[in-house]
Amino acid sequence: MEGGTAIEVENLTKNYGDFTAISDINLTVKKGEFMGLVGPNGAGKSTTLKAITGLLKPTSGTIRISGVDIKDHRHAMENVGCVIETPEPYPSFTPGEILEYIGRMYGMDKREISIRARDVLEEVKMWDWRNKPISGFSKGMRQRVVLAQALLPNPEIIILDEPTSGLDPRGMVETRRVLQNLKTKDRTLLISTHILSEVSELCGSVTMIRDGKVVASGDVAELVHRSAKSGITLTVGTLKPVSEESVAGISGLEGVKGVEHKGENTIVIEFAGTPEQQALVTKAVFETGAGILSMNERGATLESMYMELTEEGQ
Ligand SMILES: Nc1ncnc2c1ncn2[C@@H]1O[C@H](COP(=O)(O)OP(=O)(O)O)[C@@H](O)[C@H]1O
Ligand SMILES: [Mg+2]
Repeated sequence: MEGGTAIEVENLTKNYGDFTAISDINLTVKKGEFMGLVGPNGAGKSTTLKAITGLLKPTSGTIRISGVDIKDHRHAMENVGCVIETPEPYPSFTPGEILEYIGRMYGMDKREISIRARDVLEEVKMWDWRNKPISGFSKGMRQRVVLAQALLPNPEIIILDEPTSGLDPRGMVETRRVLQNLKTKDRTLLISTHILSEVSELCGSVTMIRDGKVVASGDVAELVHRSAKSGITLTVGTLKPVSEESVAGISGLEGVKGVEHKGENTIVIEFAGTPEQQALVTKAVFETGAGILSMNERGATLESMYMELTEEGQ
């Protein structure tokens, strides 16, 4: 057992003929961590996850799951549930029937299957649908049945390739809720997505890839903090317009990078400085006499950081 490490990928490269789909990917997912693998379409997310789960053979590199090399596939995947290019469940079956079938494949007995099936169907919010044929299900519901299949043997490590892709907004929200729920158990999760807000919502750490290479990785909060534009935007809604004089006064304060009018009764302050300096800015805003209706603070986001990173490289 490799201390607290669930998944370790070292210098992973995969060529399809002459084309290098991913090159020199390194990532480490600690036990209990939720990591997002993010990148635009074609970045190499599926290729990376397929290599990690042994669905394709890397050109070079090392992959270990709970310390076991993926070359020892059966042993390495013992504690892993994954949904990567999993075929849709057979439409005339019900979720209950499918889980029973899969449970038998895993060598579980009838009692164990019925206990686990109930647990996982409740977890993916499909218990009420257990006896209904899948043919009548929405795409999101089918996806959740597939997720239930992966969860049935109670794996510690879960790997999902774009679990919300292709779903309608409602399906996305429901699936995210289910994924959020997985956190309450002692599990490790690695999911790929091209939706950054999904990572902010679900994951503690992130690996961003583009054109098959890692462009940033680490703790989500830390990365955002380190981001070059790291700073905040204060949007102030006022009863009366803020006078030019007051705007000039605020502009001159330490830490203030810019003040702009946005419409008649709103000013936007870009700020990067210490909390003490920020307190002085807030004080100055209140002293404008314009009557503060609202003050909204927005920090750097994963999106702003990603935009910076991808602009740089262009
Ligand atoms: N079997 C394949 N043969 C050739 N090229 C492939 C194959 N699978 C994927 N690719 C290419 O590798 C790159 C990464 O693909 P993929 O891992 O599917 O990206 P993502 O999942 O991030 O959208 C893409 O340019 C894609 O066209
Ligand atoms: Mg993909």
